[in-house]
Amino acid sequence: MVADLGGDWVGPLTAAGLRPDLPTAWLAEGLLLYLHPHEADSLLTSVTALSAPGSVLAGEYFNRRVRWEDVPDMLSEEEPIARVFLAADRGGPLVEPVPWAAGNGWSATQRDFVDVVAELGRPVPALMAGTGPDALVLWLFHATFGRPRTAG
Ligand SMILES: C[S@@+](CC[C@H](N)C(=O)[O-])C[C@H]1O[C@@H](n2cnc3c(N)ncnc32)[C@H](O)[C@@H]1O
Repeated sequence: MVADLGGDWVGPLTAAGLRPDLPTAWLAEGLLLYLHPHEADSLLTSVTALSAPGSVLAGEYFNRRVRWEDVPDMLSEEEPIARVFLAADRGGPLVEPVPWAAGNGWSATQRDFVDVVAELGRPVPALMAGTGPDALVLWLFHATFGRPRTAG
């Protein structure tokens, strides 16, 4: 199924067989940063309306909009991916995942990508290696709808 998340995707998804009466696992990987903040909020509202208790949602996004000066050696300005996520009015929710998800009844945990890669012994990508108040932070989150997450 293909749909523009800025338009009607709920109709096509339910027509394709999604069962809102059953728990659903949603993965928004590499997605939210492409959306306007209001589109990200709308997406969460729609996901919530389709989520039975016990549904889970995971994803990631940056703490702030990615700017051209953050990625000078990584992308050509001509690449469509760069033009989309570097657009001034995008970037995703732009508030931390825990309160963002809680606003719609989700119980979330979030982690800084840098901490996760350090635990795994992996290098920190240059994009996330900055420090200071203007540093890019990539938040990874996992949320459960309708009841608190169980340990493990
Ligand atoms: C970096 S890719 C991540 C893809 C996915 N995680 C995967 O592994 O296939 C970004 C994806 O976001 C999708 N995307 C961005 N904006 C969208 C929108 N408004 N509606 C639907 N999809 C969108 C693009 O089509 C692209 O497939």
